[in-house]
Amino acid sequence: MNNIMSKVRKAFNALMCSALITLCSCEHNNGIISIKTPPRPNGQTDVLELRCEPIDTVRVAFIGLGNRGVMAVDRFCYLPTTKIAVLCDVQPAYVQRSQDILKEHNISPALEFTQKDDWRKICAMPDIDLVYVCTDWVLHAPIAVEALNNGKHVAVEVPIATTLDECWQIVEAAERNRRHCMMLENCNYDFFELATLNMAQKGLLGELVHAEGAYIHDLRELSFDSTYYWNMWRLKENSIKKGNLYPTHGLGPIAHAMNIHRGDKMNYLVCVATDQFGLTAYAKEKYGEQSSQALQNYAHGDMSTTLIRTEKGKTMLIQHDVVSPRPYDRHHILSGTKGFVQKYPIEGIALEPNAHEFLSENQLDSLLQEYEHPIVTEVGEQAKSVGGHGGMDFIMDYRLIYCLNNGLPLDQDVYDAVEWSSLVPLTQLSLLHNGMPVEIPDFTRGAWNKLSTVTYYQ
Ligand SMILES: NC(=O)c1ccc[n+]([C@@H]2O[C@H](COP(=O)([O-])OP(=O)(O)OC[C@H]3O[C@@H](n4cnc5c(N)ncnc54)[C@H](O)[C@@H]3O)[C@@H](O)[C@H]2O)c1
Repeated sequence: MNNIMSKVRKAFNALMCSALITLCSCEHNNGIISIKTPPRPNGQTDVLELRCEPIDTVRVAFIGLGNRGVMAVDRFCYLPTTKIAVLCDVQPAYVQRSQDILKEHNISPALEFTQKDDWRKICAMPDIDLVYVCTDWVLHAPIAVEALNNGKHVAVEVPIATTLDECWQIVEAAERNRRHCMMLENCNYDFFELATLNMAQKGLLGELVHAEGAYIHDLRELSFDSTYYWNMWRLKENSIKKGNLYPTHGLGPIAHAMNIHRGDKMNYLVCVATDQFGLTAYAKEKYGEQSSQALQNYAHGDMSTTLIRTEKGKTMLIQHDVVSPRPYDRHHILSGTKGFVQKYPIEGIALEPNAHEFLSENQLDSLLQEYEHPIVTEVGEQAKSVGGHGGMDFIMDYRLIYCLNNGLPLDQDVYDAVEWSSLVPLTQLSLLHNGMPVEIPDFTRGAWNKLSTVTYYQ
């Protein structure tokens, strides 16, 4: 039986590998896999620093009201310049659960949608300004493109896309329709990340040379829990895909600190990964050696490590592991010519002339206070009381709405969204070629040097 399973697994992996290579418009070139960039259509321009007309009350449609979506609905109840207009989920009980939250806040009920294709109708509704997407990954890009093509702004959970084709479809739709498309990368809004972004931008760390980020989070129990993720989508993704499936939490904050597509750009990556061990070991122990969970194929290696080199000669290291028994870790390391910061396993800062040692706790605290990000000064206390991963989720929503209310460019633009998400297909490609370097497309198509830093407009 085990022999048959192993043959099935090998055949399956070979099939996945050839399917991925067929899907990718890429070719081997001087030891690097180059990726074709589609030309920008005539008359279309980039959407860097896009400003749209201010919206006094942002009318929001929520699509996907599971673990993540219901929390977003709750947070939006604390944003008075919004109207929660639509609630959509294929599970009617989840729509009701969100309606109950509105009731608790004395907010009038939203329109309800429960059919699987209702998102198309919602995107076409004239009285919606923002489509907010918290479904599982397969619908992120299709809904984003549909919303943009209907003239809506769109905010989408991470990752916004899982293929390069989806990345380009999103860029084209955002540029053609001149609408905002933000990926909801909440980790950029965590308190330490914002303070250290401020430090980097003010030169405290000198020139940043190297940075690290990660998503290391033991999700084994939740992945096997048939009531947690809808249709067990997360386990299914792990069953069929290789590479870093969830790169954006680690990459987002360091990409902003390193001015990616704002004076520097990611040129290429290499990815290596372990084989798969953790899910099978866990399933054998929990469900038995001969259980379907233990015999199932999981394509996804436990730990993947990706190295990126930038145009300006800097490096970034990104890891992903959601199946090993170890403490939660997003890394967040910034290393510059004058100093070093790290968030995990404990927050620490080391500065010249004594960067051999971390600063004392008191020195660290006073530095974090001195460099508190202006956005945290503005909304940090409210964010802590509303919550959402300690407050960062509320800061993210607050900023999204603040920028839409005031006609400002968003903190995260469409290029951030696709650059960070493109690691999903690009790491798969590198892995399937034994860690070969893979080019990272310049999704701005030549405009990566137009800006010099990320600005969180106030
Ligand atoms: N940023 C973060 O910190 C963070 C944390 C957790 C999850 N996420 C992301 O949020 C997303 C959702 O994760 P989750 O844990 O809430 O998963 P979930 O399974 O609890 O929620 C997904 C929801 O989408 C609904 N859905 C599926 N198909 C639909 C359709 N056609 N129309 C309408 N609704 C549909 C499901 O019924 C389910 O309620 C994922 O993309 C995940 O990566 C982000």
